[in-house]
Amino acid sequence: MAWLSKSEIDRINRDLAGISFADKRILITGGAGFLGSWMCDVLIAQEAELICLDNFASGLQSNICHHANFKKFHFIKHDITQQISIEELQLDLVVHMASRASPFEFEHYPIEILEANTIGLLNSLEIARKHDAAILYTSTSEIYGNPMVVPTPESYYGNVNPIGPRGCYDEAKRCGEAYVTAYRKQYGLDTRIARIFNTYGPRIRSDGIYARAIPRFIDQALSGMPITIFGDGTQTRSFTYVSDQIEGLIRLAALDDAKGAIANIGNDKETKIIDMARKVLEITNSGSDMTFHSLPVDDPIRRKPDISRARELLGWEPKVSLEDGLRVTIEWFRSQRREAK
Ligand SMILES: NC(=O)c1ccc[n+]([C@@H]2O[C@H](COP(=O)([O-])OP(=O)(O)OC[C@H]3O[C@@H](n4cnc5c(N)ncnc54)[C@H](O)[C@@H]3O)[C@@H](O)[C@H]2O)c1
Repeated sequence: MAWLSKSEIDRINRDLAGISFADKRILITGGAGFLGSWMCDVLIAQEAELICLDNFASGLQSNICHHANFKKFHFIKHDITQQISIEELQLDLVVHMASRASPFEFEHYPIEILEANTIGLLNSLEIARKHDAAILYTSTSEIYGNPMVVPTPESYYGNVNPIGPRGCYDEAKRCGEAYVTAYRKQYGLDTRIARIFNTYGPRIRSDGIYARAIPRFIDQALSGMPITIFGDGTQTRSFTYVSDQIEGLIRLAALDDAKGAIANIGNDKETKIIDMARKVLEITNSGSDMTFHSLPVDDPIRRKPDISRARELLGWEPKVSLEDGLRVTIEWFRSQRREAK
């Protein structure tokens, strides 16, 4: 699979306008996943030194193997829920991304998800503490559950069902945020929390249990299979293209004097699921039908972040339109299908 388009990585670094981790030493847990591998690509291009730790629960070796000969890239195959001490480098930053993150995985791996964001996160927090390093935790918009306040600001407490089908993920991330906050309070750790909203782009998995809405629709459209819509498709999501997401995460990680900053990182353009499906059909020029299925229990009706804080604190806002992001993603899916033949 190798590198993504170099121009995309260069664009993120240009948009970061001088924010750089050059020569910093960084541990990324979950670094072989969709977002983690983009982080690796951007930080390696900045000449940071990385330890990528992953157990390949949902990540892929092919997302990172192109760094194998790079001296400043180190890989550790490890389950972060098992304690580990990092002796190889004196770390400046830990990024805890390790967690399965798709709705089908909530159903099949609820305990792993809870553990990755509690026991696993605790291990990452301890590593950060020992190294006196900053930590960035990738939380989620799902901590808001089915929000009563939309656009949703960081001050909203959430409306979550702890024992529903999404409870393992939503509550794990809420507990994770509490752990991060406790480490800041009790040990003065330099912490940052990103509440990530639905993100898509090249390398997002579409196969089987990993499929989230955008990759599922693209796969279905390219195969001429029916597009499976849950509910009537009027529920909304805010879709963030991956390059925007990674820029936001790196800005948050690099923030001086972060004071435990917590920020929504997502696109504030709200899109109905059915409109996104229509756009996928239009761009792929597919003749697929749409089929409608019952809405899963506790599926949020609306998702739209208030991103005033990210705008003010990080000088960040999303730039890539859904149309442009989908075109690049669909092209990448096509190239994957050609490679697989
Ligand atoms: N992509 C999104 O839209 C989105 C939205 C909200 C939050 N997030 C968060 O961002 C992070 C990355 O998500 P992603 O979309 O890249 O998912 P992903 O599934 O592609 O990546 C997760 C990575 O973590 C690894 N992992 C899982 N459990 C592990 C463990 N116990 N030990 C070591 N590695 C482990 C997986 O193998 C995988 O490489 C996750 O924490 C997720 O909750 C993502």
